[in-house]
Amino acid sequence: MKIAIGCDHGGFEWKEAVRGYLEENGIDYEDFGAFSTESVDYAPIAVKAARTVAEGKADYGILICSTGLGVSMASNKVKGIRAAVCTNTFCAEMTRRHNNANVLCMGGKVVDRETALQMVDIFLHTAFDGGRHQRRIDQIAQIEDGTL
Ligand code: RB5
Repeated sequence: MKIAIGCDHGGFEWKEAVRGYLEENGIDYEDFGAFSTESVDYAPIAVKAARTVAEGKADYGILICSTGLGVSMASNKVKGIRAAVCTNTFCAEMTRRHNNANVLCMGGKVVDRETALQMVDIFLHTAFDGGRHQRRIDQIAQIEDGTL
């Protein structure tokens, strides 16, 4: 498994915590920055990580800004990306099971460290349920194609 991680200054602290989680668990990753708490724009970082996932060079993305909202908006513009802003472990589980989300977004000023790492653990280890949910995510893809 390989993970594309990225953040802006608002998500730097939790991105470093996620990086630590990945290293401790022997999970390969590519870090698209930011590399400090210096103010930086989130969209160029989010899109690089999202494209890495969309191109199949990473299995999942984890993106963190202050709220999780900006990185989710930016990464959801990439075809094939289903980025979900999660604030608790239930959402992290359900967005894998029902939405087959491939990018987990969160807010460094929204969730605490323990919740952030629990969400990552659940997100990376929960399978898509398929079935009727496949039809529903196919419909999301149709929106991208302009056929829905
Ligand atoms: C940066 O101040 C903040 O706007 C950013 O981290 C993010 O929350 C945007 O959605």
